[in-house]
Amino acid sequence: MLSGGAGTRLRPITHTSAKQLVPVANKPVLFYCLEAVRDAGITDIGIIVGDTVREIEAAVGDGSDMGISVTYIPQAAPLGLAHCVLIARDFLGADPFVMYLGDNFLIGGINALVADFCAERPDAQILLTKVADPSQFGVAELGADGTVARLVEKPANPRSDLALVGVYMFGPRVHDAVRAIQPSGRGELEITDAIQWLIDAGARVTPHFVTGYWKDTGRLEDMLDCNRLVLESLEPGLHGTVDEASTLVGRVVVEEGASICRSTIRGPAIVGRNTKIIDSYVGPFTSIYHSCSIERTEIEHSIVLEHSTIRGVARIEDSLIGKEVEVVPSSALPRAHRLMLGDHSKVSIA
Ligand code: TTP
Repeated sequence: MLSGGAGTRLRPITHTSAKQLVPVANKPVLFYCLEAVRDAGITDIGIIVGDTVREIEAAVGDGSDMGISVTYIPQAAPLGLAHCVLIARDFLGADPFVMYLGDNFLIGGINALVADFCAERPDAQILLTKVADPSQFGVAELGADGTVARLVEKPANPRSDLALVGVYMFGPRVHDAVRAIQPSGRGELEITDAIQWLIDAGARVTPHFVTGYWKDTGRLEDMLDCNRLVLESLEPGLHGTVDEASTLVGRVVVEEGASICRSTIRGPAIVGRNTKIIDSYVGPFTSIYHSCSIERTEIEHSIVLEHSTIRGVARIEDSLIGKEVEVVPSSALPRAHRLMLGDHSKVSIA
C-alpha cells in the first residue's frame, strides 16, 4: 500500500498532512484502500510511508482494528512507484502481491482482480479502465492475444483509451525489473517502465478491466467527486442531537456527539463526531469531519477537516478546508480580507 509521495497537487493540505488521510464521507481514503485489500483476503499489508509516517501510523496503528497486520516500510524520498517495490523487497520476499496506490478510490473492491490473477498467474496484471482523456494517464496498448503490448505515460497521441488504474498485481519477476530500470526524466523509478521491461523480457502481462467507478484522488476536484459519490449511498443515521428548530432533509448522517442547532442540513451530507452546527445551512455533498464548529454559515459541496471553525461566512462551495482552520469575519477597520494562508493555498473571493 503506497502512502508516501509528495502530494504536490493537493497543496497546501499536503504540506503538513498525508493526502491519503483526507476523509471521503468522513473516512480517510487510505481506509477504503486497506479495506478493499483485506476484503480480497489479503491481511499482511506493507505500507510505504514518507514524511507523513507519524500521521499514517497514528491513524492505522498495527491494523488489528481492521483485521489486518501492518508493516511500515519507510521511503526516504518519493523516488517513484517502482522504487516502492524495490525497498519492499524484504517484506515481499518471493510472494505474489498487490500494489495499491493509497490515494486511489475504487468502488467494487479488488476481489475479481485478485481471483483473476490467482487463476492465471501472469508475471504482472494491470488494471485498466476506459477514459475520455487518455493523454492525462498511463495508457496501455493491447496485443492481438489480449495481453499488454505497450505502456505509454501520458501520450500526446494515445493509441488506446485504456488508462492504468492504481492497482497492480505482480509475481516475483518484477523485482528484476525494478532493479534493471533507470530513473525517468522526472527522476523517479516508474512502474510503467518496470512493466514495459517485463513485457520486453517476454514476461506475461495481462489486463483486467474495471467498469465501475475509479478516481485518483490526487486533486481537489477528484476528492469532491468521490465524496459526492460515497455520500449518495450513505445509510442515513442520527447518532447526535438535533434541536426542534433544525431540519434534516434527505440522506443525512449525524455522528455521535454532534449537535445541530437552528440549522438545516440538506443531504446527502455527514456531520462528524462532536461537531457543532449552529444557525447554519449545510447543503448537499458536504462532509464535515469531527470536532468542527460551523456557525452562521452556509456550506455546500465541500469537505471540512477536523477541528476547524467556520463562523459568519455567507456561503462556501466546492471547497476543501484543512485541519484546525479558522474562517471568521472581521469587524476591524479598514474593511478588508485578512489572510494568513499556507504556501500554495488557493482562495477565491466572491
Ligand atoms: P502520485 O499521486 O503519483 O504522486 P504524489 O503522491 O507524489 O502526488 P503529486 O503527483 O500530486 O505530487 O502517487 C500515487 C500514490 O503513491 C500516493 O498514495 C503516494 C504514493 N507514492 C509513494 O508512496 N512513493 C512514491 O515514491 C510515489 C511517487 C508515490
